[in-house]
Order: sequence, then structure tokens, then C-alpha cells
Amino acid sequence: MQVANASAVVVGGGSGIGRGSALGLAAAGARVAVADVDPVTAEAVCAEIAAAGGTAIWSTVDGTDRESLAALAARATGAFGGVDILSSNVGVVADVPLDRATEQEWAWFLELNVLSHVRAVDVFLPHLRAGGGPAHIVLTASMAALVVPAGVGDVHLGLYNATKHAVLGYAETLRGELAGEGIGVSVLCPGMVRSNLSATSARHRPARHGGPMEALAGAAPPGVMEPEGVGPFVVRGIEGNRLYILTHHEAVPLVQQRHTALVEDFTYFAGG
Ligand SMILES: NC(=O)c1ccc[n+]([C@@H]2O[C@H](COP(=O)([O-])OP(=O)(O)OC[C@H]3O[C@@H](n4cnc5c(N)ncnc54)[C@H](O)[C@@H]3O)[C@@H](O)[C@H]2O)c1
Repeated sequence: MQVANASAVVVGGGSGIGRGSALGLAAAGARVAVADVDPVTAEAVCAEIAAAGGTAIWSTVDGTDRESLAALAARATGAFGGVDILSSNVGVVADVPLDRATEQEWAWFLELNVLSHVRAVDVFLPHLRAGGGPAHIVLTASMAALVVPAGVGDVHLGLYNATKHAVLGYAETLRGELAGEGIGVSVLCPGMVRSNLSATSARHRPARHGGPMEALAGAAPPGVMEPEGVGPFVVRGIEGNRLYILTHHEAVPLVQQRHTALVEDFTYFAGG
């Protein structure tokens, strides 16, 4: 589908990869609803788009709440006459060694990294279908859905890696189920991108999962991709209806290593 003149909703659009996606979609001519649990950042991204000559509205949304997502869908439909593109970006990270992970921590990660996408899709799918034309869903997973880094520095990423793999399986299956309707599904799998993920994960941890907590320390290493760099990949992924949106080509050897290990184990067991 063409992004120009489409209507897009970006959940988690106030910062990082969601912001980069919103800017990229707007630059390609989409009308964009920027939605975030943090209204200040959503409004700021909306203003950035307007300043660059694009069309945007902003809204507060809690991506873990179906009613809040439904209100966002109603607002975007009211403003733009429909929704053609859903970009779903909510996610969390924290340092949790697997042998110490509690059920509550698992529930937090599963809800924010997996169910946030499921809820967004459930709520927006009827709107994407209602347009009657081509539509597209972009679900942000991570490179951690394709390969398993042991950790970044000494940060334990087991909950992150496991839940990002769940997003991959969900997105791949959803793509197959919706293909006949002309609704594309892409899974965005970036490597490191400069963002506020540690801070927003800690700040917005819902009360039912323990409430706000102290953020992981540490800044992104130099040389990471800027969020603005992600937007053009998202546009190309939608327009080319690609299953995987891959922003970090340098990760190819890591993906090959994983597949080599898989084939080696097939070979091992084929040997009897
Ligand atoms: N930054 C990276 O290196 C990187 C790499 C690969 C994947 N990702 C993934 O990209 C996604 C976006 O993360 P980011 O790194 O851009 O972080 P970010 O913190 O900069 O952006 C996340 C946004 O989601 C918002 N948000 C948090 N909880 C929300 C909720 N309940 N409802 C609505 N909005 C909510 C935050 O306010 C924030 O604006 C995540 O799924 C993350 O796992 C990040």
C-alpha cells in the first residue's frame, strides 16, 4: 500500500522508535495520530510533524487498556475519516536474571511487550477492515526476537528476549491470517536505537505490576541509530509489504550463526 494520504495511528509515538516511525510516516505523506501514555511527548511529536509541514493529531493512550485504545481509534477515525496503518511500539526493558524473575515481573513483561500489541490489533483491526482498502500493521519487536544476546553489558535480558520472540510468532501468524484481506503485517526488529526505554519502562510500570521503579542506569553507546533513522525503514516496509523490517544490516552474521546452530542440531539428530 502507499503511505502517502493514508491515516496512521502510532501507539507509543511520543519517544524513540515510535517517534521515529511517526515522523517517517508523516514525512511520507500520511496523516498521523501520535498517541502515548505521556501526553507531553505525544503533543511535542505532533508539533514536530506540523512544523515540518505534515498533518498530525495527538492523544493520550494507555496501550494496556482496551477502552483507552478504543477511544484513540474513535478520535483518529473522527479526525481522519478512518485508520489505514497501525504502528504499535509499546514495550519495556529491565535487568532481571531469569533465576530470580518473579511471576509479577513475567506478567509485567508479557503485558507490556506482548499483550500491548494484541490489544492494539484487536481494537484497530475492525477499523482497518472498515476502510475496505489496503491496510497495514507494524508491530515493534526487536533484534532480540531474531537472536539472543546474553545481555547488553551486564544487563540480564531474558524476559525481554523471551517476550520479543513471542511478538515475532504472533506477527508472523497474524500476517498469514490477514493476508487474504489485503491487510499487511510487518514486525519491526531493530538493533540498538537511541531512546528513553529504560526510563519510560520504569516510570510507567503499572501499579498492578509494582508501580514506578528506578530506571536502569547508563546511556546508549555512541554510534547507535537515531530514532529518525527508523522512520524511512518503516515506510519502505509498509510500501513493500515486507514481513520483517530490518534496520541493522550488521546483525546478519548473528542471524546466520543462529541458523547454523539450528541446522547443526538437525544434522546431529538426523545421525540417529
Ligand atoms: N531502543 C532500542 O534500542 C530498541 C531496539 C529494538 C526494539 N525496541 C523496542 O521499541 C519499542 C519502543 O521503545 P523505545 O526504545 O523507542 O523506547 P521509548 O521509551 O523511547 O518509547 C516508548 C514509548 O512508549 C510509551 N509508553 C510506555 N508505556 C505505554 C503505555 N502503557 N501506553 C502507551 N504508551 C506507552 C512511552 O511513554 C514512550 O513514549 C519497544 O517495544 C522496545 O522494546 C527498542
